[in-house]
Amino acid sequence: MTHASVTLRQPSQITFGLGCAVPAACAFVRTTGSRRVFLLTSPSVAQLAATIAAELRSGSVAVDVVTGVPPEPTTACAERILAGARAFAPDLVLAVGGGSVLDVAKIIAALHDRTEPISAFYGINVLVGRRTALVCVPTTAGTGSEVSPNALFLDEVTVAKKAIISPALVPDAALIDPSLMVSLPPALTATTGIDALAHCLETYANLAAHPTVDLHSLEGVRLIGANLAIAVADGSNLAARSAVALGSLYGGLGLGPVNTTGVHALAYPLGGEFHLAHGISIALMLPHVVRHNLSSLPSRHTALAEALGAPSVEELPDRLEQLIAACGIPMGLSAHGIPREALPRIADAGLGVTRLLKNNPREITRADALRIYEAAF
Ligand SMILES: [Fe+2]
Repeated sequence: MTHASVTLRQPSQITFGLGCAVPAACAFVRTTGSRRVFLLTSPSVAQLAATIAAELRSGSVAVDVVTGVPPEPTTACAERILAGARAFAPDLVLAVGGGSVLDVAKIIAALHDRTEPISAFYGINVLVGRRTALVCVPTTAGTGSEVSPNALFLDEVTVAKKAIISPALVPDAALIDPSLMVSLPPALTATTGIDALAHCLETYANLAAHPTVDLHSLEGVRLIGANLAIAVADGSNLAARSAVALGSLYGGLGLGPVNTTGVHALAYPLGGEFHLAHGISIALMLPHVVRHNLSSLPSRHTALAEALGAPSVEELPDRLEQLIAACGIPMGLSAHGIPREALPRIADAGLGVTRLLKNNPREITRADALRIYEAAF
């Protein structure tokens, strides 16, 4: 068996465990000798951020705490936060929050000591180098941003999701503490968890799939499939929270070397023009794109069906629909305010995400895309 070469870039430190966040974050700052920490966070975890800030300040570290990154952040919003970071001039950026907080923090660490606008770095490997240390503490189990080279923003000029992808955006440390996810509401647990499931599934059923990534991806599908509905129903179930967080980490590890496929490509326009949350967009498209892909890479789809407990490979899309329903996510583009007449426009936008469609197991033509969106409507 031969495979194309693959490059795995990961944080030099990945810490995973209940209660690890505060001690590991403070230890990382101490051991790197950082003196000025820009701490980006969200109101829902302000208390945790305050605890970290207080401990760092007791060691004479200057800490600038900034809260209030909105979900699905725009480039303009990230520019405003970046302006504040430029004034503070940190030597370490610490992100404590969901995927939006992490993505903005990654860009701040890379760009606060440069003058170009964020939009100058859209694309793959346009951004080169980062001089400021970057530590990410995720409070949702979903994006995998804490270990990936990706940051995504809504560009309000083009009304499209834009990706900045660069090895410079792989954090130096990812500190994953499932106990931080206990207070995450059921709806957010569900949608972020389905996003993580999609990362695992898409990096496995992928034309660029690689054995070095397969191990994590398939196990991530199994972990999330068996535990997500439990975590949604009982957020305090630490075993289920830990399993989903581990699955999310595994999905994130595949984003750099392999990345996602048609599910993410066709989901992005729903976030761009219609501002649907990323995880909801993914849930709406996941079973339908998998149904289209099923005839390609048959042994991989069979393995995915087994990992999710589907009785046969043909029933894999149904099993995904059951799981999404068990997590309480209402299906149907129409239920989320998308008008039928927008589907041709959405299809054109989805087909433009060629960086992901090139990985899809089966070609998606414009007619296919329209059929998939109709099925998802
Ligand atoms: Fe995603």
